[in-house]
Amino acid sequence: MENDAYHRPVMVREVVAQLVRRAGIYVDGTLGGGGHSLAILQALRDKGMEEGSVLIGIDQDRFAIGEAEKALVAFRERTRFVQGNFRNIAGIVSSIRERELPGKEVTGIVLDLGVSSYQIDTPERGFSYLRSGPLDMRMEPGGELSASDIVNTCQERELADIFFRFGEEKKSRKIAGAVCSWRREHGGIAGTQDLAAIVRSVVRSPDQQIKSLSRVFQALRIAVNDELGSLETVLKDGTGCLGPLGRMAVMSYHSLEDRMVKHYFRALAADDWGPKRVGLREPLHRAAFRLVTPRPVVAADDEVSENPRARSAKLRVVEKKDCSGGESERDC
Ligand SMILES: C[S@@+](CC[C@H](N)C(=O)[O-])C[C@H]1O[C@@H](n2cnc3c(N)ncnc32)[C@H](O)[C@@H]1O
Repeated sequence: MENDAYHRPVMVREVVAQLVRRAGIYVDGTLGGGGHSLAILQALRDKGMEEGSVLIGIDQDRFAIGEAEKALVAFRERTRFVQGNFRNIAGIVSSIRERELPGKEVTGIVLDLGVSSYQIDTPERGFSYLRSGPLDMRMEPGGELSASDIVNTCQERELADIFFRFGEEKKSRKIAGAVCSWRREHGGIAGTQDLAAIVRSVVRSPDQQIKSLSRVFQALRIAVNDELGSLETVLKDGTGCLGPLGRMAVMSYHSLEDRMVKHYFRALAADDWGPKRVGLREPLHRAAFRLVTPRPVVAADDEVSENPRARSAKLRVVEKKDCSGGESERDC
């Protein structure tokens, strides 16, 4: 049973269909409540591939690890839980592999980016403008930098830059100016509702207010957790971990992330024709990866109507070619 009370996982069928094709090591880099992990483990069992398979579940939030341990209790023997950042995927996988899984290939990696419903809905975590709480936003509770540190100490230009780059907010400068005025008048920004009031004071139209609030809160969350930096590293090191015919599936929920995944996967799957294509009949180097989803997979209408979070989800998948005499050797 899926752990819907904690987080309702998105596009579970699609992720399982793309990933679960043989036994091996699976990595869920965004374990959350364990919804995708549970579906992967169940599919491995249903397909008779459980023997020889292990799932490594990573999350930087210790509350998620605790929740997933409960959800995956039936598969305790097959799971390894790691509280950590998925940007360290290479080290995490290699230490578990060396210790207990020598010779096993990484067959599938899933990333379901962003925050869980539990994180958003918990006021003390400070992720939502709809909940009154401290401006925290650290996915790793107790981590170094909180959103409060940023809004209370950054200079106006730095704040505007964060709102613009990570939230694509057009009124970034005005909002940053209003944040600094508020700091001077009130001695600081105390919590989510202060920041929400500041955004509302700059953006008057109710429709635009909701959009700007989402963008400003998203921008701070991305900055606090260095989400784009972690994504850049995990795309490189995660695909670097894959064995032949191993797949990486990434689900993103906003255009900044999706753009990064799209460009990275396209570049990985592009043959190298050298600086001048002219005259070459064969590429200098064939790509070691294949794009499984030239266009992103999106959620079916029935899922979107039941789970609004699915509306913005985009799933992209890349596969490492088998250059060792396997099924797709001709491509290498
Ligand atoms: C959308 S939820 C995943 C939900 C999960 N697929 C499920 O079925 O319940 C994203 C989770 O990834 C975690 N997370 C986000 N970025 C991370 C990172 N860089 N390293 C490790 N965990 C991360 C968050 O703490 C959160 O629990």
